[in-house]
Amino acid sequence: MTLILALTGASTAQQIDLIQNPSARQGTSLNGRWQTLMDPYEAGYYDFHLNPIPDGGLGANRVPKDKGDKYELTFLPATPALQVPGDWNTQKPELLWYEGSIWYRREFDYAPRATPRRQFLWFGAANYQAVVFVNGKKVGQHEGGFTPFQFEVTGLLKERANAVIVKVDNQRHPDAVPPTMTDWWNYGGLTRDVKLVDVPETFIQDYQVQLERGSLNSVAGWVRLNGTHKRQKVVIRIPETGSSASVETGEDGYAQFAFPATLSLWSPETPKLYEVLVEAETDRVQDRIGFRSIATSGTKILLNGKPVFLRGVAIHAEAPFRSGRVFSEAEARTLLGWAKELGCNFVRLAHYPHDEVMTHLADEMGLMVWSEIPVYWAVQWENPVVYAKAERQLAEMISRDKNRASVVLWSVANETPLGDARTKFLSSLATKARELDPTRLITAATLPHGGAPNTIMIDDPLGKVLDVLGCNEYIGWYDGPPEKADRTSFQTVYDKPLVMSEFGAEAPAGNHGSEGTAWTEEYQANVYRHQMAMLQRIPFLQGMAAWILMDFRCPRRFLSGVQDYYNRKGLLSDRGEKKAAYYVLSDFYHSPAAAR
Ligand code: GCU
Repeated sequence: MTLILALTGASTAQQIDLIQNPSARQGTSLNGRWQTLMDPYEAGYYDFHLNPIPDGGLGANRVPKDKGDKYELTFLPATPALQVPGDWNTQKPELLWYEGSIWYRREFDYAPRATPRRQFLWFGAANYQAVVFVNGKKVGQHEGGFTPFQFEVTGLLKERANAVIVKVDNQRHPDAVPPTMTDWWNYGGLTRDVKLVDVPETFIQDYQVQLERGSLNSVAGWVRLNGTHKRQKVVIRIPETGSSASVETGEDGYAQFAFPATLSLWSPETPKLYEVLVEAETDRVQDRIGFRSIATSGTKILLNGKPVFLRGVAIHAEAPFRSGRVFSEAEARTLLGWAKELGCNFVRLAHYPHDEVMTHLADEMGLMVWSEIPVYWAVQWENPVVYAKAERQLAEMISRDKNRASVVLWSVANETPLGDARTKFLSSLATKARELDPTRLITAATLPHGGAPNTIMIDDPLGKVLDVLGCNEYIGWYDGPPEKADRTSFQTVYDKPLVMSEFGAEAPAGNHGSEGTAWTEEYQANVYRHQMAMLQRIPFLQGMAAWILMDFRCPRRFLSGVQDYYNRKGLLSDRGEKKAAYYVLSDFYHSPAAAR
């Protein structure tokens, strides 16, 4: 036991009020069948003059009083239902293309406890905008389809038949993040777990426990209490190592700590996780955390102080076999299992934070993770409201996964056009990410720029503020024939590592023909062969993420009989069929050349 007088007051961490590790807290899962009403005209929320209905409309949870009651905005017993978690698009054929609002309603009982406690309604994610009502009272709203949010409902609950009603709207808007044009299906709904979290009056709201930056044997972090009894003794313990620290939180409930520990470090080969206990006088949280350091040195990426090459593949949160948003451990394990089998030690979770089941499993299975916010293609760079939305999503992403050893890279953007406003926007996000979490690397997927003939320059001005450059190139597909890779070289203006964050080609599984015939497996495999040779010639390349592990639904891909609204750049089809290119990449990843 090491006693450390904690630094109180000056908290460095951004005040994101998310409850850390809600799955380890007491409470009630609200997953299951929810009544649902499609409302494309938002008649459940606005009156005919588009004024918000004062009592919340459908959110008011009004039920007809008697047989003469003509009230329309209500969920009658005959109301159809959908499964939560789950996107609505793949649950009913008529909803596949639906973009608009759907109202969700479910009831739950709540058994009050003897001691004073607090209740929070927690959502893993809702795409895209959610307005939440409890027992007819609006408790809050959230924008952003891929990060968690919660609202306190203490004092609003009764013992029987509490009604939670959520209006979820997945309509796309130019001032949204992501904006209107993306290359993935705009799955809507309550796409992740919903939980009523029940905590003591003063509880452990948030904590970070990681290796101290630049150290391999010192654990550092902070803890924050929320409640009336903020000044408490808190013990952070790693029982297996016998190491711990005891701190005193300040008036603001905050304390930092650091203590020595002898740890076997987390890595893809040895994904060691430790039970970590955070114990305050009024609350206790248990977590499973891996300890590893990640850093750069010149053009090298260092994992636990040693150079590492990121053998990766990109993954969309598209469920194998059934399509739709991934939310279950089984589906996450299938996708990450395929990546492992491919020879990967790294996955790029594109282009938005995936369900936390993915990052928890990556911790367990030993896969380093690139996690990204959907600042994608044409964002309104000059709009401060849009910047605030992006920064909020960044803070929520980092808050949720800051204790996941697998997450080594935070990405602030994908394929954004050069321009001062854009670079300023993204530089601010990168700076914010570093402030929120100084223990991880900051990156972005940039676009390649031409230099001298047959030369691609890595010179995006954003590179100045990034730790690792990401670059998406499609030589052999969008950019020339596959052989063009043979005469292409890369140069960089940065003494920083490069990760080729996308490369690839498209072919539906089973479509065969000559190497020169586009859309065939042979053409795709040929692109990969030329890519592997080209990538190995780049001296500052420290990783790659092939686009993409599995075919995924996409409204922009409508080549009949070929794409049929799927992006077919997967190395596996959406039914898990391995394409010829899969073996080209797998051979490389299992070869000594990839272990550089
Ligand atoms: C882009 C983009 C992806 C897209 C891919 C493609 O690079 O980042 O989201 O799916 O290219 O064209 O297949």
